[in-house]
Amino acid sequence: MLVLGIESSCDETGVALYDTERGLLAHQLHTQMAMHAEYGGVVPELASRDHIRRLVPLTQSCLKQARVQYSDLDAIAFTQGPGLGGALLAGSSYANALAFALNIPVIPVHHLEGHLLSPLLSEERPAFPFVALLVSGGHTQFMAVQDIGNYTLLGESVDDAAGEAFDKTAKLLDLPYPGGAKLSQLAKEGIPEVFHFPRPMLHSHDLQMSFSGLKTAVLTAVQKVREENNGNIPDQTRNDICREFQDAVVEVLTAKTHKALLDTGFRTLVVAGGVGANWKLREALGSLKVQPPHTKGKSKPVPEPVKVYFPPMEYCTDNGAMIAFAGAMRLQKAQKAGVFNVKPRWPLTDIVNS
Ligand code: KG4
Ligand code: ZN
Repeated sequence: MLVLGIESSCDETGVALYDTERGLLAHQLHTQMAMHAEYGGVVPELASRDHIRRLVPLTQSCLKQARVQYSDLDAIAFTQGPGLGGALLAGSSYANALAFALNIPVIPVHHLEGHLLSPLLSEERPAFPFVALLVSGGHTQFMAVQDIGNYTLLGESVDDAAGEAFDKTAKLLDLPYPGGAKLSQLAKEGIPEVFHFPRPMLHSHDLQMSFSGLKTAVLTAVQKVREENNGNIPDQTRNDICREFQDAVVEVLTAKTHKALLDTGFRTLVVAGGVGANWKLREALGSLKVQPPHTKGKSKPVPEPVKVYFPPMEYCTDNGAMIAFAGAMRLQKAQKAGVFNVKPRWPLTDIVNS
């Protein structure tokens, strides 16, 4: 079965072709980053209009890349939510109109399920069950994944998502939107522990997280630096702030990941979402071992290895491949074209066992 996948939930237009026999045949992406950078954030109306402009040419490029025709398509998967309402409508209208014209069904896909399953696009696929850490601009969640469609929410950020904290902190440091990746690049040049930021909820004994306080700590530090430097932030100081901010986020995410693995007993971890591209997080989670609790009077148990899977870099941030793949895994959800309702707010747990 050949599935065309359409992603348009935010500021990336992604189109891809996934074949259930042959795997991923093509994928094309257009990022609107440069267009929104001028405004310091995503402008929803501009995003919707740009998706409309890009969808047809990107689909044509995919068909050409895979050497297939429109008539070869068996179904069209599209992101139904969560995301920006207008942007989602652009993708869903296009997907449904095309499916209607071709007389094939549509498969509405949950954007986060796309992220969650994206590591399965790698040659080396994780085996179920696993703990998934979803770290994107909109979500920071731990899920226990027993199988496709069987997800349990273990814990999440009570306020800002990790990616959102990266972007807001980057803005405080005068970095261009979207600053997450740039911030992590500057952190490489930063000296550790020149600044000291909190590790929010590190010892909360659960899997809840909070990142908005951290951003406030950066704000206070930046204000002080500016006062001392005629309103400027010296380059090395900016790098040092980036370093400490990133260290704080990664330390919290790593400690919580350890707890999630300990609590579930799973020893496979999947990291998905844009922040999964972060080098420091990859380093920390890549070398993570689970330390079972030490019982008094007994010898200390040896740390247990963890199999960690990151999606290939190009599938970490929003893309069409993960939607085509999730759609292909959800062929039983195929419906007659005409599914025009989108779900800008849609918890992933709503689709459990559906
Ligand atoms: O998954 P994604 O593409 O979109 C959402 O569904 O949110 O994630 C985008 C987020 C942004 O907040 C971006 O700043 C962050 O991922 N991001 C990073 C890095 N690359 C992207 N954050 C930290 N380090 C990076 N290297
Ligand atoms: Zn995303």
